Amino acid sequence: MWSKKVLLFGAVLALKVSFYDAVLFKFTNFQCKSYNESWYVINYYRLKAVSRDRVLLNMNGTILHPAHNIQVHAKVYKKANGFKPWVLESTADVCRFMKKRYDPFINIIYNIFNKFSNINHTCPYVGLQFVKDLYVNPELLILPFPSGEYLLTGRWYFDKKLIFDTNISFIFLEDLLKRT
Ligand SMILES: *[C@@H]1O[C@H](CO)[C@@H](O)[C@H](O)[C@H]1NC(C)=O
Ligand SMILES: *[C@@H]1O[C@H](CO)[C@@H](O)[C@H](O)[C@H]1NC(C)=O
Ligand SMILES: *[C@@H]1O[C@H](CO)[C@@H](O)[C@H](O)[C@H]1NC(C)=O
Ligand SMILES: *[C@@H]1O[C@H](CO)[C@@H](O)[C@H](O)[C@H]1NC(C)=O
Repeated sequence: MWSKKVLLFGAVLALKVSFYDAVLFKFTNFQCKSYNESWYVINYYRLKAVSRDRVLLNMNGTILHPAHNIQVHAKVYKKANGFKPWVLESTADVCRFMKKRYDPFINIIYNIFNKFSNINHTCPYVGLQFVKDLYVNPELLILPFPSGEYLLTGRWYFDKKLIFDTNISFIFLEDLLKRT
């Protein structure tokens, strides 16, 4: 069902047509929801603005029973009279991904989150899971996105059942001067 979009993303990667350097990256909204609180409890999630252009993302949740089978479906929407699906979408087997970073799109997201969280280990996942004061330095970021406001939705499945959602909106401004 998603293979065409994955292929399209592969084509974007292969041609290297559209990776942009950012001059601004700023979180604008963050929403999470647990669909099964006897498995995953979200203690809190919030954005914290520390200056005009610097917004930190925090999330803290507890997995109550070990999760051995985890999938994430990540999808990017671009804002244009509401958020419209954009070309990036992928579903990854998290346990397999943590052994081998086989999905290039999930890997971009993983690399942004990794050093601010305790997710860097293999399955199973249990207990406290956090993202602490995540800041995205635009100077270190290249994304295959033109300027705009985006929504990255993450739908997380344990044993094939939807357990929680993470929806992150952000503004990204590409550096027009650096485009070739
Ligand atoms: C996340 O976004 C998706 C797609 O717009 C929506 O269906 C879902 O309800 C949202 N979840 C939360 C927690 O806002
Ligand atoms: C919620 O999670 C619990 C604990 O793992 C599980 O026993 C139960 O079947 C799940 N409920 C639903 C509706 O998936
Ligand atoms: C996460 O939240 C729990 C419960 O509110 C708290 O005890 C814990 O210290 C928090 N951990 C982090 C890393 O924020
Ligand atoms: C992630 O964990 C692996 C294995 O524990 C370790 O070798 C690696 O350095 C860690 N990576 C980061 C970026 O922390």
